[in-house]
Amino acid sequence: MSTLEQQLRKLADKTLASELGGGAERIAKQHSAGKMTARERIDTLLDPGSFIELDRFVTHRCTDFEMASQKILGDGVVTGYGKVNGKIVYVFSQDFTVFGGSLSGAHASKICKVMDLALKTGCPLIGLNDSGGARIQEGVESLGGYAEIFWRNVQSSGVIPQISVILGPCAGGAVYSPAMTDFVFMVEGSSYLFVTGPDVIKTVTHEEVTKEVLGGAETHAEKSGVTHFVYPSEKTCIEGVRRLLSLIPHNNLDALGATVSADPVDRDCLNISKIMPDTSAKPYDMRLVISDCVDDGEFLEVQPEYAKNIIVGFSRLGGRTIGVVGNQPAHLAGCLDISASMKAARFVRFCDAFNIPLVTFVDVPGFLPGVAQEYGGIIKHGAKLLYAFSEATVPKLTVITRKAYGGAYDVMSSKHIRADFNFAYPTAEIAVMGPEGAINILYRKELAEAEKKEKLQEERSRLLEQYKETFANPYKAAELGYIDEVIKPEDTRRRLAMCLEALEGKREKRPSRKHGNIPL
Ligand code: HXC
Repeated sequence: MSTLEQQLRKLADKTLASELGGGAERIAKQHSAGKMTARERIDTLLDPGSFIELDRFVTHRCTDFEMASQKILGDGVVTGYGKVNGKIVYVFSQDFTVFGGSLSGAHASKICKVMDLALKTGCPLIGLNDSGGARIQEGVESLGGYAEIFWRNVQSSGVIPQISVILGPCAGGAVYSPAMTDFVFMVEGSSYLFVTGPDVIKTVTHEEVTKEVLGGAETHAEKSGVTHFVYPSEKTCIEGVRRLLSLIPHNNLDALGATVSADPVDRDCLNISKIMPDTSAKPYDMRLVISDCVDDGEFLEVQPEYAKNIIVGFSRLGGRTIGVVGNQPAHLAGCLDISASMKAARFVRFCDAFNIPLVTFVDVPGFLPGVAQEYGGIIKHGAKLLYAFSEATVPKLTVITRKAYGGAYDVMSSKHIRADFNFAYPTAEIAVMGPEGAINILYRKELAEAEKKEKLQEERSRLLEQYKETFANPYKAAELGYIDEVIKPEDTRRRLAMCLEALEGKREKRPSRKHGNIPL
């Protein structure tokens, strides 16, 4: 055997060893828990045959706890790059079969290397997380490794999309990298995110809670809003990442071109008039309005289970990606509360950072009143959405379908905070407050008089009609130019598509500054 042949065999042996991770037994345990291995996950994520691995022979440097004799090639994380939908992405995938996927200094360095490459080359970074957290044997070196990752998450924020897929435990400080990325994906029944686990909680606060209830997918989808997408299996979850990547740009300078859509941009939106109820007090599903307007009715909703009173997600119009924000009258009458404001604000900021035009559908009775909301800080949280829409310089289109009352009118991408084109349906009601509340304040004396004369109902109806006629319509706003056009619902799609085309060259500069100070 020639020297080269010998060396090639050595390379093949080492390569094979590196692919075994923590060994066949631990791989079988991973499979029996319904989980894929780190490499199987990468294969599911990337276009077939496109993965190029880096650092497969890296090992840890720890000598304490007899670790010098326990070196495993790759040290618990598979890193590299490959293609999703034909475009390069960088990826790391933690290998739970090696020290529980725990993070050593070497493991962290491998992740940092792909993070640096992703940022330098303007490609998305996808982290497949399955880890017991800091490698206990390494102590502070592991903590330093985490901080290196956190720092890079912040440098990359708004430059490249960062996606975290949680496919196992994710505890302690390990949660903070996913929290700083743009989108968090979880799997029902096998993903967990918590700062302190059930045992610590029991010791400190005496609360008893399972890890599923504490930090499972459902909890983070519905209660905390930490996760954006939940899927029933690892495979569907990773396919969900591919779908999201097909809709968003690769970096903040990427001119995401239009795809070809078979759905004509000038088709009538025939469903909207049927969806909208006759009376303004009745709920309807804003999702159906959105579906009627966008290409082929396709809408990737983000955080569908959290703050259901507002809808956010990605779609295409005339083949161009758009970010959609919509009040949801079917839940809490579509009012703005703390959770809805935070959810929509973060989404708006993502779209603005990555040049995705915003289309906003408005049907909002106002901010949710209540002591809990005031104590919880609705003032500063509501201000987040106001801030986000105000700072956004991407094309902004607004359609008021029905209610646009009070401060919420201003917040929901109004003309005054620099939306480019604002439309309203003839059914729109744009005023300081709804008719009931308004006449109670404006006509307190008259109503009291009418009550004495036992004519309260008649008088109330008359005043309500008068108020609706005067204010609860789109025409006052249209007179002032706050609404560019009152449109028929069936014209929505063609009008929005035309506006997007008209705004393609939009350039808007803000004053130079280090950064703004969004209310946090
Ligand atoms: C070293 C670890 C480890 C860790 C797990 N292992 N976590 N090794 N450091 N953090 C090893 C186990 O010893 C075991 O090795 C193998 O991984 C699988 O672990 P099991 O416990 O057998 O698996 P399972 O029953 O599925 O439980 C998984 C787990 C549990 C829930 C993650 O292992 C666990 O609670 N680990 C500790 C979690 C933790 O407290 N991490 C530190 C958080 S603090 P063998 O050889 O038996 O296969 C933190 C600070 C970061 O992360 C701060 C940054 C700012």
